[in-house]
Amino acid sequence: AADRPLAGRRALVTSGPTREPIDPVRYLSNHSSGKQGHAIAAALAALGAETTLVTGPVALADPPGPRVVRVESAEEMLAACRAALPVEVAVCAAAVADWRVAGVAGQKLKKDGGGPPRLELAENPDILATLSKPGPQRPRLVVGFAAETERLVEQAIAKRARKGCDWILANDVSAPTGTFGGDSNRIHLIGGSDDPQAVESWPVLSKTEVARRLARRIAESLGD
Ligand code: C5P
Repeated sequence: AADRPLAGRRALVTSGPTREPIDPVRYLSNHSSGKQGHAIAAALAALGAETTLVTGPVALADPPGPRVVRVESAEEMLAACRAALPVEVAVCAAAVADWRVAGVAGQKLKKDGGGPPRLELAENPDILATLSKPGPQRPRLVVGFAAETERLVEQAIAKRARKGCDWILANDVSAPTGTFGGDSNRIHLIGGSDDPQAVESWPVLSKTEVARRLARRIAESLGD
């Protein structure tokens, strides 16, 4: 039906931060709210897609529609994404921690007078790049985000090529726009046409509107 153009399609969305353990009681993380990712999962489900939302720890209620899979670390997020395949479209909106702690302590680290512990970090998997790799399980459409404070479009074009995804939604996170933790976003879509340099600039929209617009754009792209 015209109001459910994604009926019969499968979608995957990542959202929120990840939490990387240091020991059984401590972790490294970031300030991602999950607002944009959750809104995208809800919008895809509203258009009829059978949607899996893989989310790190957030303070948001589960959106209506998607199946919600809760994870903590980047490695858990990647495993949950793989388990959700195959899908026709994947949208990576999570703020995945770039690093995890190598050799997580099995017991709570103690102040034993020997000075602060040294944390050794290891690189986390890049979920967007992993999902974008060519292969039988690759979604037809893989969408990533780029948050930049300068040379927005230029860096987003480079990021799209580096990650191997189809579309990048670039947003300006420099101070005046208030994107971080806020409720609105100014998006520049890269990769939405045959010209990899072409930029489709959207007006300032609420995160809910960005999600609806992206979901409609995805439905158009997947066709019937
Ligand atoms: O490299 P950068 O973090 O700027 O790229 C942002 C995009 O990559 C977002 O779509 C984010 O969800 C995704 N990403 C990911 N796994 C990572 C790092 C980023 O999926 N480890």
